[in-house]
Amino acid sequence: MDLRPLLGEASLEVPKEGQLSRGELLELLPKADGLIALLNVRVDSELLAAGKRLKIVANFAVGYDNVDLAEATRRGVVVTNTPDVLTDATADFAFTLLLAAARRLGEGERLVRAGAWQGWAPGLLLGTELRGRRLGVVGAGRIGRALLQRAKGFAMDLVYDSPRQMPEAEALGARHVSREELLATCDFVSLHCPLSQNTKGLIDAKALATMKPTAILVNTARGACVDHEALADALESGAIAGAGLDVFENEPQVPERLLELESVVLAPHIASATLSARTKMAEICANAIRTRLQGSCPPTALNPEAMQ
Ligand code: GLV
Repeated sequence: MDLRPLLGEASLEVPKEGQLSRGELLELLPKADGLIALLNVRVDSELLAAGKRLKIVANFAVGYDNVDLAEATRRGVVVTNTPDVLTDATADFAFTLLLAAARRLGEGERLVRAGAWQGWAPGLLLGTELRGRRLGVVGAGRIGRALLQRAKGFAMDLVYDSPRQMPEAEALGARHVSREELLATCDFVSLHCPLSQNTKGLIDAKALATMKPTAILVNTARGACVDHEALADALESGAIAGAGLDVFENEPQVPERLLELESVVLAPHIASATLSARTKMAEICANAIRTRLQGSCPPTALNPEAMQ
């Protein structure tokens, strides 16, 4: 989509197709008043120092663990994200991964495409139904709650683990439980927390060891919330049954061991990839840049105090 009409007086420089290298970006930044940053751009002190004129970084994502918010604030750079508009798309996709892992869709697809399917058989690729199964959502923010809403329609038993009790989640029939209870009792565990020091490696060997051998892990949050080596160990040993992963710690690299496991459904970080969500995300970013460059604080500012 063409963002120019939304940018007001600002001119848009999109220097080439695809992504700029770090070096190219650092070279261009001294001339920029605003930056639309994709989630794989590290907006750190080096980048912020290179952007001497920067007034705003519009992060093209709801998660902003790629941004050093404190440093941006210190430099008077407003940072925005793209909440709400991708909630449904992301929750839809988390549910897609959940169902795909539960019903072994990846394995079935590979079987058919390999020409190895021998025909209908009573025991072929038996999976798990959802009715009455317990879903645990780690982080009952907008996306976590949207997943609970979907799961309610499938008659699942719902629990969530959040720093505080969430009336909106309770209204969906979900029960607030401890992380320990969630991990130990859930048939499906879906991560919807931001990546932070507290959530890095949240699903590690210790956490995986407490999960049910029939459990399925879904991650559409950030790759680093899961220790992928520990996950591969758990899947290989049967400590848990399966996983649906959209995010990885060092994207686009996916750990070799996961690539070899039939019980994992793998996706290339596409949970918010609907035309509608991505169009609205672009609009939010462009509007934020225009608003800031016209001297006001964008409504999606994460650090409005940077305006002072
Ligand atoms: C995508 O991962 C986002 O944070 O928007």
